[in-house]
Amino acid sequence: MTYKTYSVRETHSIAAQLASTLQGGETIALVGELGAGKTTFSQGFCAALGVTATVTSPTFAIMNVYEGRFRVVHLDLYRLKSAREIAALGLEEYLGQPDTVALIEWPEAVDGVQWNANVTVRLSATGEGERTIEIIYGNGGDTISAGGEASSEG
Ligand SMILES: Nc1ncnc2c1ncn2[C@@H]1O[C@H](COP(=O)(O)OP(=O)(O)OP(=O)(O)O)[C@@H](O)[C@H]1O
Ligand SMILES: [Mg+2]
Repeated sequence: MTYKTYSVRETHSIAAQLASTLQGGETIALVGELGAGKTTFSQGFCAALGVTATVTSPTFAIMNVYEGRFRVVHLDLYRLKSAREIAALGLEEYLGQPDTVALIEWPEAVDGVQWNANVTVRLSATGEGERTIEIIYGNGGDTISAGGEASSEG
């Protein structure tokens, strides 16, 4: 399913729609260039799950955990360079747990790390204030493999 949004608010609403379909345990890969709207999408997603904490970009923290109707683990792998760094995050505590959903920005950042995403969200800036948002069930085709459990190689 592909959507176009023309404001942050509209992007939040697409994210809320996705959030409302989840059962718990899902991993969501957020794919798109710098500034595409991955964190903005995550903010709308968390708000829809009743997270009251301020959702900030995890670019520097790497991982933030929020409590809402599900626990939300929000990752940004942009700065990570190796599978070892990913392994050190201890994601097994979160990924696939029925009370938790995971949002992963830059899932493709580390070569050789495979994820199993239940949903891939591809965002792109397609105009001034315009974003195209594609929601794909599964790993999202052949250009990335994202979401789920990190492999130990690499
Ligand atoms: N329709 C729209 N939907 C979402 N964001 C929009 C839209 N139009 C403009 N923006 C702006 O685009 C920017 C998106 O930034 P955001 O931090 O969400 O991107 P990101 O994909 O997480 O980037 P990064 O890769 O650096 O983490 C924000 O400044 C937001 O205000
Ligand atoms: Mg971001």
